[in-house]
Amino acid sequence: LPPTPYPNAPDLDFAIATKRSQATEALKTVHAQLGQRYNPIINGAAVDTEATADSVNPSKPAELVGKLGLASQEQADAAIAAAKAAFPAWAATTAKERGAILRRAADLMEERRHELNAWMVYEVGKPLGQADPEVSEAIDFCRYYADEMERLDAGYAYDYPGETNRYRYFPRGIAVVISPWNFPLAIATGMTVAALVTGNCTILKPAENSAVIAAKIAEILIEAGMPPGVFQYLPARGSTVGAHLVNHPDVHMIAFTGSREVGCRIYADAAQWRPGQRHLKRVIAEMGGKNGIIIDESADLDQAVQGVVYSAFGYSGQKCSACSRAIVVASVYDTFVHRLVEATCSLNVGEAVKPSTKVGPVIDANAQAKIKEYIEKGKAEATLALEMPTPADGYFVGPTVFTNVKPDAVIAQEEIFGPVLAVIKANDFDDALRIANDTDYGLTGGLYSRTPSHIERVQNEFAVGNLYINRGITGAIVSRQPFGGFKMSGVGSKAGGPDYLLQFLEPRHVSENV
Ligand code: NAD
Ligand code: ALA
Repeated sequence: LPPTPYPNAPDLDFAIATKRSQATEALKTVHAQLGQRYNPIINGAAVDTEATADSVNPSKPAELVGKLGLASQEQADAAIAAAKAAFPAWAATTAKERGAILRRAADLMEERRHELNAWMVYEVGKPLGQADPEVSEAIDFCRYYADEMERLDAGYAYDYPGETNRYRYFPRGIAVVISPWNFPLAIATGMTVAALVTGNCTILKPAENSAVIAAKIAEILIEAGMPPGVFQYLPARGSTVGAHLVNHPDVHMIAFTGSREVGCRIYADAAQWRPGQRHLKRVIAEMGGKNGIIIDESADLDQAVQGVVYSAFGYSGQKCSACSRAIVVASVYDTFVHRLVEATCSLNVGEAVKPSTKVGPVIDANAQAKIKEYIEKGKAEATLALEMPTPADGYFVGPTVFTNVKPDAVIAQEEIFGPVLAVIKANDFDDALRIANDTDYGLTGGLYSRTPSHIERVQNEFAVGNLYINRGITGAIVSRQPFGGFKMSGVGSKAGGPDYLLQFLEPRHVSENV
């Protein structure tokens, strides 16, 4: 019998009227809570801070979502000291008890699903249809990692006559989680609960742009039973306090997801031994992508156009998994481009809160300016096939399609992280595969084809961590599509997969002569 599929949490069905009205109600309730203050939680208590930052609604930047108390270096040191003190008791807590807290957190997320969706709409400009699967993913991470830890906790026995051999896993110590804003709930939850369930005392330093949602994660984990010092919420500036945490000699591991630039710096900094440090640090660094979808001459173009549009412009292209290159063989190129542009034109660009919105804003003014610079570069090196208009207020960038893009063009090589798609013409399938692999990155990739030999070849020859055939390339589901890349897309095993927790654990072996 095939193994039973993992029972993933189902997304909401917004075709059901009651779900839509509950969503509207939650948007109103959360709107009434905008503008509150969120302070770091150190050793179980919220602490005041000197520095603050405003987290604003990217659809409507005048709207304050929350005022963040930003931790100082001294407060970061206090969090590390509290984590150190809490570690022995947490390490001695059974995997079952730790897992039970994660399962309670998952239940609380189910109960607060509409509310969590609403926070994502306001704080990071994620339309409901994109936010809701993120809640499912966060719930799945909690339940899946609880199960996984119980599996690993059994360890292995390699006994011989007269000798017992036991192989068991132990926590590493203090874990620092540094999370991005683009999956503010799922990725922050996933890295944090993985570190916690494996017995590590964990400090969550979220991205500045999504620290209110991280405060909701903190509320949930604390309500579920995470003890003081075991889990701590530390909103802070990444470049100063984040770097300080990475460099601290008492930190054992860093789980980071974010840009290539910051990931590379953390990888290098963490490798330095510092006085007082009695271990080498482990770094998980999940970074960017320049993901390509190949469309060959046998592709179902209806499917291909829909999959490319969703993968390129869903959440305004701000997914590490997003499609930023469509690599199309010459014989279907003109037809594909025509249909792609028509389909993209049908996307509604607007405030994330509007039910009709398909493409919301980008995260902030810096991102907007950077993406627009890339669009100007694109105009100089390729043909602009579409640049959609946007609302005047808010950090909007309209979906943009460039055609006749050379494989080595800047817009075909650098991660733009916005709604900009480069369409590249390939001579044939071999050429398309060569172009697809000609990138520093190796995160996601796709193929639309009905040619069995092509489908077989990409499975070995397309160098990406997550390959999707005849479907879109975003939206990996926990356990079903364990997620993560290699090359310059990162170091670390796949989130939501069977090897993930091993990175947070130290194996030890005991041999006894009996
Ligand atoms: P970012 O690198 O700017 O920030 C990520 C985190 O690092 C934030 O919490 C930030 O405060 C912190 N930080 C910044 N400088 C630091 C420093 N010097 N030391 C320690 N911490 C520091 O990334 P972002 O803009 O939040 O996220 C977008 C990027 O994340 C994109 O490149 C995207 O591809 C990538 N991403 C990758 C994955 C994946 O699974 N591979 C998933 C989501 C996002
Ligand atoms: N896990 C996210 C996706 O697959 C990044 O889109």
